[in-house]
Amino acid sequence: MARRAVLVLSAALLASSALTACSTQGPAAGPAPGQASGAKKGAGGRITMGFAQVGAESGWRTANTKSVQEAAKKAGIELKFSDAQQKQENQIKAIRTFIQQKVDVIAFSPVVESGWDTVLKEAKDAGIPVILTDRAVDTKDTSLYKTFLGSDFVKEGKAAGEWLTAAYANEQGPVNIVELQGTTGSAPANDRKAGFAEAIRADGRFRIVASQSGEFTRAKGKTRAKGKEVMQAFLKSQKDINVLYAHNDDMALGAIQAIEESGKKPGTDIKVISVDGIKDAFVAMTEGKINVVVECNPLLGDQLMELAKKVVAGESVPARVETQEGVFPQDKAAAALPSRKY
Ligand code: AHR
Repeated sequence: MARRAVLVLSAALLASSALTACSTQGPAAGPAPGQASGAKKGAGGRITMGFAQVGAESGWRTANTKSVQEAAKKAGIELKFSDAQQKQENQIKAIRTFIQQKVDVIAFSPVVESGWDTVLKEAKDAGIPVILTDRAVDTKDTSLYKTFLGSDFVKEGKAAGEWLTAAYANEQGPVNIVELQGTTGSAPANDRKAGFAEAIRADGRFRIVASQSGEFTRAKGKTRAKGKEVMQAFLKSQKDINVLYAHNDDMALGAIQAIEESGKKPGTDIKVISVDGIKDAFVAMTEGKINVVVECNPLLGDQLMELAKKVVAGESVPARVETQEGVFPQDKAAAALPSRKY
């Protein structure tokens, strides 16, 4: 018995190690009645999607992963899911694995904007369509992907800056701002920074006195400083901080801890502006600790599966599908909290 158990275990280990970074999640018997009719490719086989996720760095990302996994199940699409742990080389490896596995479509949310042409060309040469989801890539060759599904991050940055200029309409300057940037080189970090800077540029009262990456994450990981630690450093180096602009909620929440530990009141002594709209941020708004959240919607799964079916069927799709998002100032948080889905 014991020997048989060891043999079974070894076989299971061999099978799982062959999948390396990728795990497969697919419904055993297609979609439930009343749900999506089930994607068909070619002569009637189920579509297989390779999905290379950024990682699990934030509450937003966790909600995005769940949305993609649930939507694939509902749509009858077999999902090969890979978590890149915020490393571009891992995502490139995962995409190459998907190409070898001859998936029908690849979807991915690029960790950073640049450096994708080679691997995307490999997918194109293998005849596998690619959908960019959540984050865009920086390339001159737009034939390397079929469509982009996600947010306009520049618009989000602008909305944050516009809220700030309105909030200080009747105040004296200068207004000293510290900025917690997202992952260096990523589309949301680049665009949210640019949009915000554009919105405050014309008003000489606003000054970004310090700006550094907190990796879109709340508190310290193994190697790099995150939202909390970067804010601690800001509080040491800048004696007069009026506003924190964080590129996402997780960094804002980490920074709030640092502000409180320094004896200051987040939301009052230092105004806090954040992006995403996860439940924890809404709770912090109801407690007066965040002043405004610019929404970024992670629930992209259903739209992604619809696009995938079309792309695999050779139908045309729009070059860009943008999600609709709102801005939630503190006084709207309590009413909105019960209906937040992520
Ligand atoms: O790309 C979207 C961003 O990535 C979200 O704002 C952030 O929370 C996430 O990690």
